[in-house]
Amino acid sequence: MASLRGLICAGGEATRLGELTRVANKHLLPVGRWPMIYYPLQLLQLAGIREVLIVTGQGHAGQLIDLLGDGRFDERGGGGPLFELDLTYKVQTRPGGIAQVVGMAEGFAAGGRLVVCLGDNLFEYAEVAAIREFAEGDGGALVFVKEVPDPERFGVVVYGEGGAVVDVVEKAGAVDTRYPAPPTRDAVVGLYCYDAAVFDLVRGLEPSSRGELEITDVNRAYAARGRLAVRRTSGWWHDAGTHEAIAEIGALVERTGANKVA
Ligand code: G1P
Repeated sequence: MASLRGLICAGGEATRLGELTRVANKHLLPVGRWPMIYYPLQLLQLAGIREVLIVTGQGHAGQLIDLLGDGRFDERGGGGPLFELDLTYKVQTRPGGIAQVVGMAEGFAAGGRLVVCLGDNLFEYAEVAAIREFAEGDGGALVFVKEVPDPERFGVVVYGEGGAVVDVVEKAGAVDTRYPAPPTRDAVVGLYCYDAAVFDLVRGLEPSSRGELEITDVNRAYAARGRLAVRRTSGWWHDAGTHEAIAEIGALVERTGANKVA
């Protein structure tokens, strides 16, 4: 089995959150009973990953260390161990896209495979079985999709004959103008698995029309090589990008639970 390490992308300025992020790192805002970043950390831990790199923006970066330390601590109030991780931190001084963050993980990955979580994406199911299968498989990339009502906000996949993914389109009409509107409603969610080939692909990227190195371009490159596997997420998936979303997801997590193992 290839070695598997985790990466959490927790950068960005979070300006959309206005007053909430003036003195707080977005990824520490409360979602239900936990700070947001606990959820991707828990997902990685459930998948059997121990070594996790957190990349964050410079603003309030120290708060992440205040909270998470070396990645080993017990639940407050007498609970058992909450996390038994081995954490590494890096700072992204200027936001340059998710693919840029992945590129920052090359030394950390040490030739092994990487599971990448966006720090503000939450899942009902932790997709543990699919991640473990990827670790045992022959490499390439694995992404997850979810049908959404607002595909223009996301990267979406395009299927060819036979159902294989032939293209990935980032925010159709806005970032990727090859398509005026999203060609499908299957959004690529913020959980990606890559083999070590990802770092050469990132080196070959050009910034998109929004000035970022796009993770969608990485996924398209894997698709072009016939090396992109796609799984549908079971259960709900949301990104906690606005104060409304944070409140709604918090309530949802309390109702249904998150990161469940099917
Ligand atoms: C990013 C990705 C997009 C993906 C989304 C999931 O969007 O670029 O492909 O569908 O995360 O949350 P961004 O957060 O950059 O708008």
